[in-house]
Amino acid sequence: MTLLTQAGIASLQICFYGAGSMAEAIARGLINKKLVEPNRISMLNRQNEERLNELNERYGVQTIVQGSSNEAYLREADIIFLAMKPKDAAAAIASIQPLVSPKQLIISVIAGLSINAIEKLLGGKGAVVRAMPNTSSTIGLGATGISYSDNVTPQQRTITEAIFSSVGINAVVDESLQQAVTGVSGSGPAYVYFFMESMIASAIELGISEASAKELVVQTVLGAAEMIRYTGEEPAELRRKVTSPNGTTHAAIELMRENQFLETVNKGVKRSAERAGELGAEIERSITE
Ligand SMILES: NC(=O)c1ccc[n+]([C@@H]2O[C@H](COP(=O)([O-])OP(=O)(O)OC[C@H]3O[C@@H](n4cnc5c(N)ncnc54)[C@H](OP(=O)(O)O)[C@@H]3O)[C@@H](O)[C@H]2O)c1
Repeated sequence: MTLLTQAGIASLQICFYGAGSMAEAIARGLINKKLVEPNRISMLNRQNEERLNELNERYGVQTIVQGSSNEAYLREADIIFLAMKPKDAAAAIASIQPLVSPKQLIISVIAGLSINAIEKLLGGKGAVVRAMPNTSSTIGLGATGISYSDNVTPQQRTITEAIFSSVGINAVVDESLQQAVTGVSGSGPAYVYFFMESMIASAIELGISEASAKELVVQTVLGAAEMIRYTGEEPAELRRKVTSPNGTTHAAIELMRENQFLETVNKGVKRSAERAGELGAEIERSITE
């Protein structure tokens, strides 16, 4: 096994334990950004062989259905990604405990599962990272919150951040803020889709064809996000610039304000964060029971 302390990412062996959509997004990012050769990546599933064949053909990664041969990949890996659904996590993680060693970096993308719970399931072995990516990682535009356990070394941190940079941007946060990250960027894409849905519906009601409505709304959202990035200006400042007193935008914004737009978004974000906490607590309970 290559020691993390001696190497960059290119020489590491990376094993994805759980080969679903999030695992694929990260593996694709690593391969596309040429951070790791596909033959250094292995991807394991419990039973879905068809899915593994697809990943093998698409990326040239090594793929293995659960069984004796996957043990070698897990043992030899410098980095193990935990990427199964929360309901499968406890059993799956506990089952690899004998294979994990303290030198390995364990990166979990499992929503709600705490570092403490992962450490317990692994018997205290491995340096644990908890990450909360979002669905836009699939196209390299993700936003990931990352939290480290105390025993993650500075080099392992650099490697972790380089990995998530290959699928978007990331923010290192204290683990206590992971629920907040879920409320903001984890669930965030769906809020934007929801807003877009309602804009498209309004455009159609106003007589615009469905196809044009969709095109206009998508470009509007894309352009607005890009304007913030391109100009470096605050969203509020850009909004003020396009809102002339008594103009059309002003009329719409005032009506949205009167109808509690800000409060509704604020409550929605907080409710998602709260729900993340509830789900996390359920997982913790299922592990300790
Ligand atoms: N998708 C997102 O946008 C997103 C965002 C943030 C966080 N996450 C987190 O990422 C994790 C994975 O989500 P996903 O959307 O990628 O799920 P997914 O597409 O359902 O993939 C989960 C994979 O895990 C495998 N698996 C389950 N139990 C296993 C076991 N015991 N051993 C080996 N493999 C096992 C499944 O294989 P089989 O089908 O063979 O059982 C499946 O391929 C979740 O915990 C989720 O909370 C996802």
